[in-house]
Amino acid sequence: MTAPANDPVSRRRTFAIISHPDAGKTTLTEKLLLFGGAIQLAGAVKAKRNAQQTRSDWMSIERERGISVVTSVMTFEYADCVFNLLDTPGHEDFSEDTYRTLSAVDAAVMVIDAAKGIEARTRKLFEVCRLRDIPIVTFVNKLDREGRDPFELLDEIEKTLALDTTPITWPIGGGKNFAGTYRFATKTVRQIDKDGDELKTEGIFDPLFDRLLPNGADNWREEAMLAEEGSKPFDLAAFREGHLTPVFFGSALRNFGVRDLIDAMAEYAPSPRGQEADKRVVEAKEPKMTGFVFKIQANMDPNHRDRIAFMRVCSGKLTRGMKAKLIRTGKNIPINAPQFFFARDRSIADEAFAGDVVGLPNHGQLRIGDTLTEGEDIVFRGVPSFAPEILRRILISDAMKAKKLREALQQLAEEGVVQVFTPHDGSGSIVGVVGALQLDVLAQRLEAEYGLQTRYETSRFTICRWITSSELLKLKSFIDSNGSSVADDLDGAPVFMSSSAFQLNYDAERNPAIKFSDVKDYQ
Ligand code: G4P
Repeated sequence: MTAPANDPVSRRRTFAIISHPDAGKTTLTEKLLLFGGAIQLAGAVKAKRNAQQTRSDWMSIERERGISVVTSVMTFEYADCVFNLLDTPGHEDFSEDTYRTLSAVDAAVMVIDAAKGIEARTRKLFEVCRLRDIPIVTFVNKLDREGRDPFELLDEIEKTLALDTTPITWPIGGGKNFAGTYRFATKTVRQIDKDGDELKTEGIFDPLFDRLLPNGADNWREEAMLAEEGSKPFDLAAFREGHLTPVFFGSALRNFGVRDLIDAMAEYAPSPRGQEADKRVVEAKEPKMTGFVFKIQANMDPNHRDRIAFMRVCSGKLTRGMKAKLIRTGKNIPINAPQFFFARDRSIADEAFAGDVVGLPNHGQLRIGDTLTEGEDIVFRGVPSFAPEILRRILISDAMKAKKLREALQQLAEEGVVQVFTPHDGSGSIVGVVGALQLDVLAQRLEAEYGLQTRYETSRFTICRWITSSELLKLKSFIDSNGSSVADDLDGAPVFMSSSAFQLNYDAERNPAIKFSDVKDYQ
C-alpha cells in the first residue's frame, strides 16, 4: 500500500473496534499500537482492560480520568498511513457515547471470539455501523483456543448480520494445533510464533501443509478449497458500501494475524469520507477547515478542572493558533492548544487534517455536536441525542447546595454523561439516562468532583419525547396546557414527559400537529 506522501487526507484511516466484552478488543488495540510503534511495551492499554472488569473498578479508574482520556483516541503511523483509532466506551452499558464515537469513524474492525461467534453487543454496535454504511473488517480472534468451525462462523455473520463475507485468510488447524493462516490470493502462509515474511507455497496441495498439520492435511485441503471456491470474491466497492466484510483469522494474544489486519485497513479501508451537513456534504479534501465535536471529557485532572472537546476534522487543515467559528453561537474561538493523543501521551498538534481527531481544551464553550468551521454556516448531522430510557428526579441532602447541583448537572450534561430536564412547573431537575450504570456514574462524579451527595427518586414520568411543530402557535398552546408534563432540555428545547408509552401514544394521536421525537439532533 503506497499512499501519496503529499496527500495527508488519503493517508488517514479513522476507525473503531467493535466487539463484545472479552472478545479481545483491548489485546488487539495493544498489538495494533505496538505495530504502529505507538507503545513500546505491551501492557499500556491494560489499565483500561482492568477498568472493564467490574463496575467498581471501572468507576475508580474513571475517576482517575487520565487513563480513559488517553485511550479515547490513539494515533499511530504504519505503512505510510496515519491511523486514528477511536475507543468505543468499555463498559457494558450501551450508551450514547458509543453512537457518537461511531459517528466520527470511517471504518470499523469487528472482533469476534472464535468460540462464541456474534454476541449481543457486537450485534448492537454493528447495527449502529450499518446505519451509516460503515465498512467493516472482521477479525476472528482466539484461534489458539478451541473454537467453532470457521464455516459456521462465516455463516453466522452472513445470517445474523446480513453481511456478505470473504475470507482473505484461512486458519491452518485450530486450538492447540493452530499453525497459522493461509492467504488465498497470494498462496502464502503465515506461521504462528514465526516472525518474518510469509512463506510462498504452490497452493493448498503444497507438502508444507502436511508438516504443519501433523494429524493429516486432507480435511484441511478440502475445507480450504471449499472456502475459496464457495465464497464471494473480495469486492472493494461492496466492502466500502458496507455490504461485504473481508475476514481474517488470528490470535491477538499471540500477536498473530494482526499484521494482515492492519495491512487490510491500510489497503482497503477508506480515507476520510465526505460528511453530511445540514446544507450539503462536506468533502474531506475541501480546503477550508470544518469539524464537529463528538465527545467531551471534563475534569480529567481534578487539580486543573480541564475540559477537552474531541473534534473530528472533516475537511481542510486545522492549524494551531487559527480561529474557527462556533456555529451554535456564531462566535469565533481561537484554537490555541489542539492536542493529539498517543497511547500514553498527548502532544500539541501544530496541524491536523480531515480524519484526525484533536482534543480542544476549553472552559465550557464547546458542546457535543458543535460544528466549527472557517466561517461557513453549516451544521454537521449525525451526532444525535436519544430520548433517555430511565428518568429520575435528583435530590440533594443539603438544600444550600441546590445552585451548585444545577451547575454541576449542567456541566455533566454538556459532557454527555446525563441528560438534564428542567420542568416548566418549577419542580426539581429530572435526569435521564440510556443505561442504568450512567446513574451510578453520575452520583459518583457529583460526589467526587463537586462534593455533592445526591440521591434519586422515581419520577412519575417514565418516557419523554422532544416536541416540535411547524405550527408554532399550536406548539405553544400544547406546552401551555401541559405545563406540568413539559420540561426544557439543556438547550432549552421542549420535552414532553409521560407516565407510559400508552399515554404518550394517546396524547400524540390527539395532537397531530405536534411531532413527538425520540431522537434529537444536537443543535
Ligand atoms: P476486551 O477488551 O474485548 O474485553 O478483551 P481483552 O482484550 O481484555 O481480552 C479478554 C480476555 O481474552 C483476556 O484474558 C485476554 O488475555 C484474552 N485474549 C485476548 N485475545 C486472545 C487470544 O487471541 N487468545 C487467547 N487464548 N486469549 C485471548 P483474561 O484472562 O481476562 O486476562 P489475562 O489474565 O489473560 O490478562
